[in-house]
Amino acid sequence: MIKSEFLKLSILLLIGGLLACDPDPKLSDKALIPLPEKVQAQDGVFTIDENTKIYIDRSELEDVAQFFSKFINHSTGFNIQVVTEKPEGDYIALGLGLDVPKEGYELDVRPDGISIKGATPEGIFRGFQTLRQLMPSAIEKVGGFEGGAWKVPGVKIEDAPEYGYRGSMLDVARHFFGVEDVKRYIDLMSLYKMNYLHLHLADDQGWRIEIKSWPMLTEIGGSTAVGGGEGGFYTQEDYMEIVEYAQERFITIVPEIDMPGHTNAALASYPELNCNGEAPELYTGTEVGFSTLCTDKEITYQFIDDVVKELVGLTPGPYIHIGGDESHVTPLEDYIPFIEQVQDIVNSYDKKVIGWDEIAHAALRPSATAQYWAKAENAKMAVDQGAKVLISPATRAYLDMQYDSTTQLGLHWAAYIELDSAYLWDPATLEEGIDKGDILGVEAPLWTETISTMEELEYMVFPRLIGIAEIAWTKPALRDWDDYKSRLIKHEERMKALEVNYYSSPLLKQEE
Ligand code: ACM
Repeated sequence: MIKSEFLKLSILLLIGGLLACDPDPKLSDKALIPLPEKVQAQDGVFTIDENTKIYIDRSELEDVAQFFSKFINHSTGFNIQVVTEKPEGDYIALGLGLDVPKEGYELDVRPDGISIKGATPEGIFRGFQTLRQLMPSAIEKVGGFEGGAWKVPGVKIEDAPEYGYRGSMLDVARHFFGVEDVKRYIDLMSLYKMNYLHLHLADDQGWRIEIKSWPMLTEIGGSTAVGGGEGGFYTQEDYMEIVEYAQERFITIVPEIDMPGHTNAALASYPELNCNGEAPELYTGTEVGFSTLCTDKEITYQFIDDVVKELVGLTPGPYIHIGGDESHVTPLEDYIPFIEQVQDIVNSYDKKVIGWDEIAHAALRPSATAQYWAKAENAKMAVDQGAKVLISPATRAYLDMQYDSTTQLGLHWAAYIELDSAYLWDPATLEEGIDKGDILGVEAPLWTETISTMEELEYMVFPRLIGIAEIAWTKPALRDWDDYKSRLIKHEERMKALEVNYYSSPLLKQEE
């Protein structure tokens, strides 16, 4: 044997040896978040390689299967195919027909195959996120796997969510975040099985969605931001791109136009929306509660109808959010009929209203939801009217609240919220008189007065959003802070692979 061949053979043997002694992954080393309902370890591992196929027997699963193959191929460099004939070798089978809730699924990993079954493609998609968390963290990186194999530990999982609405809100009005940023946020949300993204599209400091019948809203109202930056807005095409990207990940966009307060950007764009007919200056500060649409002018309702009509044309989801918070300069006797009329406008386009908890002062229409952020008595007034409540307590779920007194970004008017405080609560027992049956779901809002880059955004959101996702998905009896914390510590490796700029809390260091 000549020397170079000997060298080649030695290297091959060495790689072979490394692969052979690449230890099998243990289920106990994996971090499943949100924690599934039933998890049972099974013997053996399944190895994904370039010959693995994704097998579907129903065309409804084509899109979701293509999504998975693209996801796996992207990081592994394999060319895994979706097939509709049962393959010869090992495969990942996706199947429908299971009698579970729409987002429920069963995942079965054995040495000779993986199956994900559910009742809908959405359930299969949620199940895939669990499978993703069972794969090496390197699956989150492009071509980032150094040696070893794509092994998944044997397991049988049965799972379904506690709440049907598991969301986050991004305030793109105080500081604007472009399409690519929102897509990254959607991607990160999807890993934790979240299914609603609420976009706060208009506030005093900026109007961020193109409305063709009222073009000055973006031309003037979209031209700045908190601190006097250049602002920005989504064209309707941009917005549709976000909606479609979210849909592919089974996430529904909820657009919010805040009114009658938080409207300075609109008032600065169109003088006729002001009671005195004069446009105020654009606003780049961070005060709240000083602006109002003129609630007794006909043109105000024409304006709202036009805006809602265009938004509805861009919104396949069921909800339009009408804001309604902190309307401190709108007298209550004007606020109440305004909120009632705006609900009727939204309902006339076959959409349901969500509004911040203050809207419960008005007569709520049967499909309306009040978003509890500040006052439990408002949320209870909504429940007393038979409305549902979306749970977003500022003291627990506001992602712009500082972690502690040393946090540089964010605010603390509601609370300091460390990771344990963000996790250790239950929507159904938080407030007396608001029970599981009254609750639509849970949402964690990020307000952006102090946040202007993705790096800053990720620092405030992660990892608190992950805990909120678990609160919304996992049954309360299965949730435990110590157990969650140890999974989160293991999950840090995946956040690093995703290059998430998360807050490395001292609470995550205790077990090192
Ligand atoms: C809010 O935080 N003003 C809803």
